Amino acid sequence: MSALLELQSVETDIGGSRILRGVSLEVNSGEVVALMGRNGVGKTTTLRSITGLRPIRSGSITLAGQRIDRMTPDARARAGIGYVPQGRDIFPHLTIEENLHVGLVVHGRRGTEARIMLDRVFALFPVLKEMLSRKGGVLSGGQQQQLAIGRALLTNPKLLILDEPTEGIQPSIIDQIGDTLKKLKTSNISEKDATAQSRQEAAEIMGAVTTLKKEGALAILLVEQYVDFCREVADRFYAMDRGAVTISGDIASLTDEVVKVHLQV
Ligand SMILES: Nc1ncnc2c1ncn2[C@@H]1O[C@H](COP(=O)(O)OP(=O)(O)OP(=O)(O)O)[C@@H](O)[C@H]1O
Ligand SMILES: [Mg+2]
Repeated sequence: MSALLELQSVETDIGGSRILRGVSLEVNSGEVVALMGRNGVGKTTTLRSITGLRPIRSGSITLAGQRIDRMTPDARARAGIGYVPQGRDIFPHLTIEENLHVGLVVHGRRGTEARIMLDRVFALFPVLKEMLSRKGGVLSGGQQQQLAIGRALLTNPKLLILDEPTEGIQPSIIDQIGDTLKKLKTSNISEKDATAQSRQEAAEIMGAVTTLKKEGALAILLVEQYVDFCREVADRFYAMDRGAVTISGDIASLTDEVVKVHLQV
């Protein structure tokens, strides 16, 4: 069986400099794959090469066996790629409801189909339903990320690409995440506690990724710097350095030693 997404020896230049030096990787249906690496090694450039925001210089990219590397970003989105870029890509002056409707309108979904899509997003991120009339700009970092992921899911992608979904949530909190997930199951955390809220958001993002994985309907390619988050949600990993993949494998092979050699600053 062939991979859902396959990159073969992809090279990408930015402003005359070679940024990707032959990136090869695969994502299979139903899989969560983490793309890791230190700052500036080319993770975002890899994602932008896949989505078409950066033209590639050589190599090939296929989605479900079809070459996509010469297609426009729009055509790649229609072919089944959902993308949540690094940072907060939502409309701050529109409400949650309006932000989601923009997603539906852009992709021409209405009526029953739109409602089914929205219900799926609300099931994954209940907080969005509770805060429908809240403006995007006043949401916390984690809530904005949930909105951005929710909006990308409205296109019903085959492959969901997330660039640092935990960005904007305090690092110390993501580090405690494994612990927190257990605690969330066994105790009630006060909502007034801002730290607890942040923890809950990180847990919700992770929970959503896990739920999507269980549904098995889509694959996820995730850029993420937090090792524990990756260990929790990913099936496999690739680590990059200076524009190329240096090591990859099952997530179980992402040992502390590998982290030390390939990922730590
Ligand atoms: N618009 C740009 N103009 C010039 N150089 C760029 C541009 N975008 C990225 N680069 C360079 O390309 C390299 C890879 O950048 P990229 O954003 O892909 O890294 P990254 O692994 O996503 O890093 P981070 O973890 O900081 O997000 C970096 O050296 C960066 O300086
Ligand atoms: Mg990046």
